[in-house]
Amino acid sequence: MSKANGKLDGQVALVSGSGRGIGLAIAKKLASEGACVVVNDLDAEPAAGAVAAITADGGQAVACVGSVTADGFAERFVATGIDHFGGLDIIVNNAGYTWDNVIQKMDDAQWDAILDVHLKAPFRILRAASGFIREKAREEADRGEERFRKVVNISSVSGVFGNAGQANYAAAKAGINGLTRAMAKEWGRYKVCVNSVAFGLIMTRLTEASARGDAHIDIEGRQIKVGVNPQILESAQKMIPLGRSGTPEEAAGAVYLLCIPESNYVTGQVLVCGGGRP
Ligand SMILES: NC(=O)c1ccc[n+]([C@@H]2O[C@H](COP(=O)([O-])OP(=O)(O)OC[C@H]3O[C@@H](n4cnc5c(N)ncnc54)[C@H](O)[C@@H]3O)[C@@H](O)[C@H]2O)c1
Repeated sequence: MSKANGKLDGQVALVSGSGRGIGLAIAKKLASEGACVVVNDLDAEPAAGAVAAITADGGQAVACVGSVTADGFAERFVATGIDHFGGLDIIVNNAGYTWDNVIQKMDDAQWDAILDVHLKAPFRILRAASGFIREKAREEADRGEERFRKVVNISSVSGVFGNAGQANYAAAKAGINGLTRAMAKEWGRYKVCVNSVAFGLIMTRLTEASARGDAHIDIEGRQIKVGVNPQILESAQKMIPLGRSGTPEEAAGAVYLLCIPESNYVTGQVLVCGGGRP
């Protein structure tokens, strides 16, 4: 049973990359407000953990494991929501990682991987959802019903303002804001609100510095260095007007605002969630 009396009762949400970090917090928040959530992650274990945590809390969730960049993934993700929960109301394109380097050291594979995960995959997921959304929106319009659906694309301040060492990531995250604005215009007629949330510094494994500042994550067999050097992290935190970095739960709060009925007339926007600092 989904939770009753939530703001998202009866809605079906897809959240990519929701086995850890911000995506996990988003999946939990949407489920706690009554949404049935399709959890996705590259890794089966965190995806199963997210489903277990949501169901233990009385919510409903199912896992769709796999890389958002894989051929056929987008269709499988969308079909999981429709087949398992009977609908599709919210799509959060969150999955991704950083793979930084200065431009002279960035090879084509590094550029392509980041563009694929942050930009091409969301495009494919929205394209895969378009048939269902258009069909349902037409049926609802014929009944005189105005039912809003929500897409929230996860961007970054790097995509809005740029960041040295992130040519690939900044380009991809700027690209998703372009996709957001185009889709808001294309899908307005179907009552789909399409917005981006551009995060500043949020504490997850992507940003948490290890003692030596050399944390690595495993992405499809590649060991990728992530984490912010502790000294840079400290000085970055000092420049945030709210005085600290954000938590995944605070990041999820910004996404949630764009999923609830109170934001039904907000579309095509990029909301910066960065504690007051770009
Ligand atoms: N943490 C920050 O400060 C920050 C700032 C701006 C934007 N973001 C963005 O927020 C999103 C979430 O990042 P996070 O900080 O929570 O990172 P995270 O590493 O804690 O969580 C991301 C999850 O996405 C999964 N993932 C990665 N590639 C995937 C793929 N190809 N297919 C499916 N799942 C995949 C990972 O396995 C991981 O569980 C990303 O899009 C990131 O770029 C984060």
